[in-house]
Amino acid sequence: MTARNGVLITIEGCDGCGKSTQAALLCERLAACGLPVGPSAAPGAVVREPGGTAVGEAVRELLLHAPVAPSPWTEALLYAAARAELVDKVLLPELSAGRVLVLDRFLDSSLAYQGFARGLGVDEVLAVNAPGLRGLLPDLTVVLDVDPAVGLARAGGRPDRIEAEGVGLQQKVVAGFAALSRRFPERVRLVDGFRAVELVAADVEAAALEAVASAGLRLGG
Ligand code: TMP
Repeated sequence: MTARNGVLITIEGCDGCGKSTQAALLCERLAACGLPVGPSAAPGAVVREPGGTAVGEAVRELLLHAPVAPSPWTEALLYAAARAELVDKVLLPELSAGRVLVLDRFLDSSLAYQGFARGLGVDEVLAVNAPGLRGLLPDLTVVLDVDPAVGLARAGGRPDRIEAEGVGLQQKVVAGFAALSRRFPERVRLVDGFRAVELVAADVEAAALEAVASAGLRLGG
């Protein structure tokens, strides 16, 4: 594990599971506890994946809006490339500075979507991500568990390329996240996302505060 003093919390789930809302609420709540949340250049902000860097945002555009779908391994490697850039340029420096980072998706999305749902294999996808991760794993991964059909309906707007693939893919993604919670119980926590926003937020906050306490960070303010 790379030396660091901060805390890395990732929020995951299928499309439309409510993770962007929950990630933003969690940042607000942790900041209200006096914790140094978000990157130092954007205090309080959620970091999103793919994205979070100039290269990552360009890769996101290519992945989600290019007219031609990449083949499954190309897709997996592009997500891994965007992630390597984020680890190097944002996560490692900010975590060594002791910041608490909340990510809207990270490694486990690749394991669930590419490894599990696309059938590339969880171990195989983990292996191609490993060099770019440089030993970094989340302290806590919250998976918002929702019915994928409800999630897709909730995602709304113009669907991106992956949402447009429909509910069959999302069902495999949900099963993939559940399998990850059994395989990595020390860091992956399933939270019932099919409840009122406030109830979900309270569970997410409680899990995050536990992770912060285990990392030895003090609550201020
Ligand atoms: P979102 O961040 O707006 O949810 O959209 C990102 C899309 O990319 C979403 O459909 C999930 C997908 N994705 C993967 O398939 N693999 C990954 O590693 C990541 C980070 C996202």
